[in-house]
Amino acid sequence: MSFPSNAIEPLSFREALGHYASGITVITSHIDGEPIGFTCQSFYSVSMNPPLVSFSVMSTSASYPKIRQAGRFVVNILSGEQIKISNQFARRGTDKWHGVEWQESPLGNPIIVGSLHWLDCEIHAEHSAGDHLIVIGEVKALNLQETAATQPLLYFKGQYCNIAAHNSV
Ligand SMILES: Cc1cc2nc3c(=O)[nH]c(=O)nc-3n(C[C@H](O)[C@H](O)[C@H](O)COP(=O)(O)O)c2cc1C
Repeated sequence: MSFPSNAIEPLSFREALGHYASGITVITSHIDGEPIGFTCQSFYSVSMNPPLVSFSVMSTSASYPKIRQAGRFVVNILSGEQIKISNQFARRGTDKWHGVEWQESPLGNPIIVGSLHWLDCEIHAEHSAGDHLIVIGEVKALNLQETAATQPLLYFKGQYCNIAAHNSV
């Protein structure tokens, strides 16, 4: 067992947080004719009334300043078939949109085709927190149609997981 100490080692911190399983999203936006996006695990819901959601983004992110400029974003909740999309949008300095099919949301953000669900947001607030920024979005539209995808993409201990694989005998 590990006891509290003054200095938390970054590696231990990362490993401890890895025990919290989550879904994976890609946060996307669109400005000056250019689609923007990055893979994001830190998405969560904040408030029902008004409907608010949030994510944290590294203050060194190349995408976020453009998202801030656009003032809006879509949360694409990834499906179990979108591991490739998750990896592609986590790679800086590459063409993240290569081979990616997308449609425009009501607010003009790119919705990645094949996602499990999406939420169309306007930036409501931004707070600085350590080496990250906490971004809060107000949800203005969401997916009302049935999607073909039914399984979420899950992330646990640094690896992608699949509920279906665990359910099958
Ligand atoms: C599974 C996974 C989850 C991630 N979650 C976050 C996150 O919550 N916040 C963040 O800033 N970066 C996160 N990243 C890292 C970014 O996707 C990555 O640094 C990306 O290259 C940033 O792109 P940008 O510099 O174009 O914004 C995650 C990466 C992976 C693979």
